[in-house]
Amino acid sequence: MRAPFAATAVAVAGLLSEHKALLNRALPNAPEGYVPTEVDCPTNRPSIRSAAKLSPHESSWLKSRREKTKPALKDFFGHVKIKDFDAAGYIDRTASDSPDLPNIGIAVSGGGYRALMTGAGALHAFDSRTENSTATGQLGGLLQSATYLAGLSGGGWLVGSVYLNNFTTISSLQTTGEGDVWQFENTIFEGPDDDSLQLFDSIDYFKNIEKAVSAKEDAGFNTSITDYWGRALAYQMINATDGGIDYTWSSIAEIEAFKSGDMPLPVLVADGRFPGELAISTNTTVFEFTPWEFGTYDPTIYGFAPLKYVGTKFVGGSIPKDEKCVRGYDNAGFIMGTSSSLFNQAFLKVKDSDSIPSFLKKGLLNILGGIGEDDDDIAVYTPNPFYQYRPESDPNSHQKELDVVDGGEDLQNLPLHPLIQPERHVDVIFAVDASADTTYSWPNGTALIASYERSLNKTGIANGTAFPAIPDANTFVNNGLNAQPTFFGCDSSNQTSATPLIVYLPNSPYTSFGNWSTFEPKYTNSDRDNSIINAHNMVTMGNGTRDADWPTCVGCAILSRSFDRTKTKVPEACTQCFDKYCWDGKTNTTAPAEYAPATVLGGKTSAGSLAGPTAWTGMVAAAVALFALV
Ligand SMILES: *[C@@H]1O[C@H](CO)[C@@H](O)[C@H](O)[C@H]1NC(C)=O
Ligand SMILES: *[C@@H]1O[C@H](CO)[C@@H](O)[C@H](O)[C@H]1NC(C)=O
Ligand SMILES: *[C@@H]1O[C@H](CO)[C@@H](O)[C@H](O)[C@H]1NC(C)=O
Ligand SMILES: *[C@@H]1O[C@H](CO)[C@@H](O)[C@H](O)[C@H]1NC(C)=O
Ligand SMILES: *[C@@H]1O[C@H](CO)[C@@H](O)[C@H](O)[C@H]1NC(C)=O
Ligand SMILES: *[C@@H]1O[C@H](CO)[C@@H](O)[C@H](O)[C@H]1NC(C)=O
Ligand SMILES: *[C@@H]1O[C@H](CO)[C@@H](O)[C@H](O)[C@H]1NC(C)=O
Ligand SMILES: *[C@@H]1O[C@H](CO)[C@@H](O)[C@H](O)[C@H]1NC(C)=O
Ligand SMILES: *[C@@H]1O[C@H](CO)[C@@H](O)[C@H](O)[C@H]1NC(C)=O
Ligand SMILES: *[C@@H]1O[C@H](CO)[C@@H](O)[C@H](O)[C@H]1NC(C)=O
Repeated sequence: MRAPFAATAVAVAGLLSEHKALLNRALPNAPEGYVPTEVDCPTNRPSIRSAAKLSPHESSWLKSRREKTKPALKDFFGHVKIKDFDAAGYIDRTASDSPDLPNIGIAVSGGGYRALMTGAGALHAFDSRTENSTATGQLGGLLQSATYLAGLSGGGWLVGSVYLNNFTTISSLQTTGEGDVWQFENTIFEGPDDDSLQLFDSIDYFKNIEKAVSAKEDAGFNTSITDYWGRALAYQMINATDGGIDYTWSSIAEIEAFKSGDMPLPVLVADGRFPGELAISTNTTVFEFTPWEFGTYDPTIYGFAPLKYVGTKFVGGSIPKDEKCVRGYDNAGFIMGTSSSLFNQAFLKVKDSDSIPSFLKKGLLNILGGIGEDDDDIAVYTPNPFYQYRPESDPNSHQKELDVVDGGEDLQNLPLHPLIQPERHVDVIFAVDASADTTYSWPNGTALIASYERSLNKTGIANGTAFPAIPDANTFVNNGLNAQPTFFGCDSSNQTSATPLIVYLPNSPYTSFGNWSTFEPKYTNSDRDNSIINAHNMVTMGNGTRDADWPTCVGCAILSRSFDRTKTKVPEACTQCFDKYCWDGKTNTTAPAEYAPATVLGGKTSAGSLAGPTAWTGMVAAAVALFALV
């Protein structure tokens, strides 16, 4: 049970001692809770940097990280064997500062709680700290071997929840009882449990959220629905008093274990949106949040702001002499909320929903209508850090406000953009896709297709990125590319520029159905746990029961690009893997029948039936009703 919201003397005392205990985590470091606050600028005044190179922070961090991924890879190949090839020895012989060392990225798609749970199952399987995960058939240690972990929307909640809770394990997040974090039995519009009546608690919870957002507004900062949303989300994802109100995303860079390279680099993705635009085009600017920076490699802005100082007035890339610095804008919940701000889509749905009571609908439409008129149905970043930074190519450069939306709204529902940047040299991406592309909320490759198509505009938005060839969505279903793991871009000689090899891990039913509706707000602990184990089974192919060679094939995917660079003869076991798992270039574009897979390993538990867009609008309506009460 977490601390009650009422700020009694006891709670305040508890808060202070908790702060002391958490000092070595260095996470709750916002100067004034939720409110962005003026501070003196450091002597070396923060500025916007060009995206031509990696962040100097990232470059120096990578040295520490590679010192850690090398032994982790060696351990991984201690239990994942490649027949007639000494993979552990190959890693051992590769220096940690050599570009030949495999460079791994993991990407977790959007898709609300479905994506969070599917991604959680993948991390559960990849984490060597998970019980038995280094046994035969298992993939434990892949997380420890990875350089990057990217999340978007629901996948971003997962990444945030893991990092903001001191890089905790999935098993510790899904406990039931004392200190439990992922309480999805209460919707985000009810708030976490307290000792007293739920309605009373909810009102208190909403009052707290309202208070924080108004304080930001009163301090002169524009707010949007994302401020409410992000605050609410934080109560579910961050294990600290008052939903971790003083946790910032940039504070992740202060965690000792992060600094010494003990964990991958977390990256969240969000999309840019031009003022007045409701549908997002596929060539919109894609932003990323690392613990150090917020910005984009896209040619529009092609720049990065120091995340810790977002909220400061930058003009043309620097801070005018008379301006002070602002800190605390990058509240961790707000950043997770930004990546998942589906509210303009909810707005479009509510308008034509006839399933919610008319009195609620009227109030709701008033609020949402007002928001729509003000272009406030998004995450508003004012001041725009990129104001007058690149007027020749940024259509938003003259705006004092920067509008940012859910990272999946451009259909690139997998956060691959940060991982295909040439400067990062990623060799292999484990792409965990829990997108709801089909009628029954299964993925059919749409996210990969969007990234592939975007990469084709070589002179425009792609700006130096490349992506392996990806077939159409019908082919995914007809040829079973979404029914088991599939590799794309295996043959690097079939590509004109270097691309990572993509290991596509589509959400599939193994022991239970993890195809929950994106808008399903409520999960019992057993549904949550079944979905997590199902995804563990999905990425390990049932711990190798569906194919005993699968762990070997994962090992081959990791080493493939490194083999090319070192001109190592591909082991026969790997050739067999590539024959089995690489997309063969064939297509079948005829419209398939409705995709309705049965469980691979014969589980029976079906995903909830009452889910649907109405659950979402109902949830928003409930929130509005509660706001009316407080
Ligand atoms: C965070 O995790 C590290 C590594 O497991 C541990 O040493 C440290 O004590 C943890 N810090 C807190 C505040 O729990
Ligand atoms: C781990 O493996 C041991 C031995 O096979 C088994 O008894 C135990 O239940 C396993 N634990 C989990 C969490 O699967
Ligand atoms: C959440 O906080 C409680 C109380 O501080 C602690 O006992 C528990 O281990 C924490 N859980 C995680 C996953 O960090
Ligand atoms: C942002 O705040 C300023 C000053 O309060 C106000 O003039 C402007 O209309 C606000 N913008 C939005 C989108 O609310
Ligand atoms: C995006 O694509 C549209 C055409 O589809 C084009 O009009 C527009 O200029 C493009 N924007 C950018 C930033 O490339
Ligand atoms: C990416 O865009 C920037 C800004 O427009 C440009 O300077 C750079 O040359 C582009 N990079 C590539 C590889 O096209
Ligand atoms: C490619 O990018 C250019 C420059 O941004 C844009 O004008 C053009 O419309 C884009 N082409 C396509 C097919 O989107
Ligand atoms: C695979 O391993 C996990 C973790 O040990 C376990 O929970 C799961 O039941 C196993 N799956 C199968 C199909 O045995
Ligand atoms: C090889 O490259 C061509 C051209 O990009 C593409 O059409 C084809 O699908 C690729 N083949 C495979 C197997 O990726
Ligand atoms: C999940 O998929 C199965 C078929 O694979 C379907 O019968 C079921 O209705 C789906 N559940 C949801 C919530 O879409």
